[in-house]
Amino acid sequence: MGRFVSKHIEADYEALSEEAALFVYKRITAALNNSKPFVLGVATGSTPIGLYQYLVHLLADRRIDLSKFYTVNLDEYYPMKQTDSHSYYQYMKFHFWEPLQKANPTFEYEVQGFIPSGETDNPEAECLVYEERIKQRGGIDLQILGIGVNGHIGFNEPGSSPSSRTRVVTLSPETVSANSRFYKDDISQMPKKAITMGLGTILEAGEILLLASGKSKESIMRKLVALDKPDQSLPASYLLQHPRVTYILDIDASGT
Ligand code: GLP
Repeated sequence: MGRFVSKHIEADYEALSEEAALFVYKRITAALNNSKPFVLGVATGSTPIGLYQYLVHLLADRRIDLSKFYTVNLDEYYPMKQTDSHSYYQYMKFHFWEPLQKANPTFEYEVQGFIPSGETDNPEAECLVYEERIKQRGGIDLQILGIGVNGHIGFNEPGSSPSSRTRVVTLSPETVSANSRFYKDDISQMPKKAITMGLGTILEAGEILLLASGKSKESIMRKLVALDKPDQSLPASYLLQHPRVTYILDIDASGT
């Protein structure tokens, strides 16, 4: 298969979210209609919230049997209690899992939604278990990604190896600062570590959809699209090694 890269530029965040949801919906239903399971790699952060809203709406049709639909998250803070409102577990429950289950009860998030545990005493073992879970489900069919202002994907910070697997990482100062907005800008309250799928794990997904929205992403997206080979200082640039990647940006993030 040849390399397929597609770039869509949408007018604004609403249009980006709608386009992205439709893209994901088509992939999910194509598999499920053929009685195949579908594993969706999901991201957190502000960017995919609109996508999840539209996607729930599209999947609300109860004739769609979601019993073979699974989600696997990219990352979770460490340490982090599942019940903490800042956890990515709660984010998923609030923005996607519960609304989807309510709209279409053939999806049961406690069985079909996977996210690394931020409350384990043995995070290294958790990382191995997480990789195994993904493998047992047959791998990720489509991975949704956002991008950090420093080019991270998941929590793979600059310098991450392209062959890295799910592991415990220390967040970079830029990431701690960018994400402290969820902690009323109080950096001292922010977790400084996370469990993240590795770049190697992400690159094994069958297909990748990267979303970027807003002026804060313009500079990193300009750098990313200008590269013709991966650069370790910009983790998202390893997507250049993947055969099937789609970017959906809004005008602000694209700088056009
Ligand atoms: C977070 C997450 C990433 C996310 C990125 C961008 O730290 N770990 O998966 O893509 O940062 O977040 P946002 O969409 O809020 O800009």
